[in-house]
Amino acid sequence: MLEVTGFTKRFRGVAALDNVDFSLNEGEVHALLGENGAGKSTLINLIAGTFPWAEGVYRINGRTITSLTPHVAQEIGIAAVFQEFSLVPDLTVVENIFLGREQSSGLFLKRKQMRQAAVELLDSLGFHLPLDENVAFLSRAQKQMVEIAKALRMSPKVLILDEPTASLTDGEAEKLFNAVALLKARGVGIIYVSHRMSEIRNLSDRVTVLRGGKKIGTVVTAEISDEGLIEMMVGRPVEQLFPKIEHKPGPVRLEVRDLTTEKRSVIGASFTARAGEVVGLAGLVGCGRSELCRAVFGLEVVETGAIMLDDKAVERPTPTSMLAANVCYFPADRGSEGLALARSARENATMSSLDLPELSSGPVLKFWRENETIKTPLANLALRPMAPERKASAFSGGNQQKLMLARGLMKPFEVYLFDEPTVGIDVGAKADVYNLIKSLVEAGACVVVSTSELPELINLASRVYVMHEGKVVAELAKHELSEAQVLSHYFGGHA
Ligand SMILES: Nc1ncnc2c1ncn2[C@@H]1O[C@H](COP(=O)(O)OP(=O)(O)OP(=O)(O)O)[C@@H](O)[C@H]1O
Ligand SMILES: [Mg+2]
Repeated sequence: MLEVTGFTKRFRGVAALDNVDFSLNEGEVHALLGENGAGKSTLINLIAGTFPWAEGVYRINGRTITSLTPHVAQEIGIAAVFQEFSLVPDLTVVENIFLGREQSSGLFLKRKQMRQAAVELLDSLGFHLPLDENVAFLSRAQKQMVEIAKALRMSPKVLILDEPTASLTDGEAEKLFNAVALLKARGVGIIYVSHRMSEIRNLSDRVTVLRGGKKIGTVVTAEISDEGLIEMMVGRPVEQLFPKIEHKPGPVRLEVRDLTTEKRSVIGASFTARAGEVVGLAGLVGCGRSELCRAVFGLEVVETGAIMLDDKAVERPTPTSMLAANVCYFPADRGSEGLALARSARENATMSSLDLPELSSGPVLKFWRENETIKTPLANLALRPMAPERKASAFSGGNQQKLMLARGLMKPFEVYLFDEPTVGIDVGAKADVYNLIKSLVEAGACVVVSTSELPELINLASRVYVMHEGKVVAELAKHELSEAQVLSHYFGGHA
């Protein structure tokens, strides 16, 4: 139904996409796979008409398209959900879903019908959302669901999803997969971008792999192994993804005692983390491990319990006081909690460390200093392109994640809290992040990693705490760490 050939897109003369062919059949899920910056988002932006294209041929249902605006794309039945959302924070869920489609009679006249249509749409997807709440008050996962509903409001023929599960809980992702299956059965063609191999495996019929803006190949998913796909992606056989970490557990740096948050997302949780070790927090997305990290960093209201640093209770943790106490936190949601997208990469990387003596001298910031200081962390994380003055928004999704991580490397902290550190990051860059964690721990830092990726826990952690419904239900020592062992506690059975 859709066929593009010779698609090329340049940014200031540099080809982000270079002579790429791509096709999509009716009722097909066609996955796009590639390292960060490979050109996936660029390709789908061209297909959806959000980027104008200068070179290439675009055919849909036998018709050749000569120019495409987002509006025309909508009319021919192409809908997209991008990595960065396009919702209006001050409008409600219903208003956002129908934004731009209010028909001639106007937004307010059709309120009732719109609400009814929204209810039906969300029901058919199995999404539960507060319809009359302003979008500003929704979680990232809820916003993602609004975006998906918005894309589906006019029964598209082609649906484009760019890393749709990056911020969904496991239950919500399951609903999305059901919706994908439903649409596929109705004959909708779906372009699906993801860094998660399991999703590509379970959902897609074909996979197209991009590398450095070029198409490496299109393969039938069932006919290729994960290793084969990764090799196409990175251009060489995969070496070892996980470094060997030398854990030398020292004194307890961070201790959480019987902690309960006001919202009850964490209930009576206790754990310790020592200098020189990686402590893993495991459990389903939504089990409370994110909130536990947030609470330690002063971002959740604590009702009872204690947070201790080096045996001293922290009275009222706030991000400022925790940073001052050498605790650094990396949120899972780089968009709304992590980055200032309109600011440069340099500014983003230095944001939480501007109090460093070597960076500031009175009110005047020494820009040249700042530039020197960020070079190493950005190089260690292999930021691509290495362009510190470029706006954060002009980096690919995975490279934005690296910008956020660079922040914690600007000065030596003692405790690092990572929440889903590799969300949206490609295989090559994952190895960079793991090596980063290794170097921090071996230099004596205390590292806490909350993640939904089991291999990360098993390969990086010296001990793992498993959470379920807000409670810590198990503590596993290094020799007990296997996927089966960790998983057996996921549903709280063995507490
Ligand atoms: N607005 C822009 N200005 C300049 N360069 C850009 C812009 N948007 C993207 N690029 C560049 O185009 C290339 C392709 O980026 P793209 O966002 O398509 O990657 P991606 O495959 O989606 O990566 P990710 O997995 O990290 O999301 C990158 O090198 C990126 O830096
Ligand atoms: Mg992208």
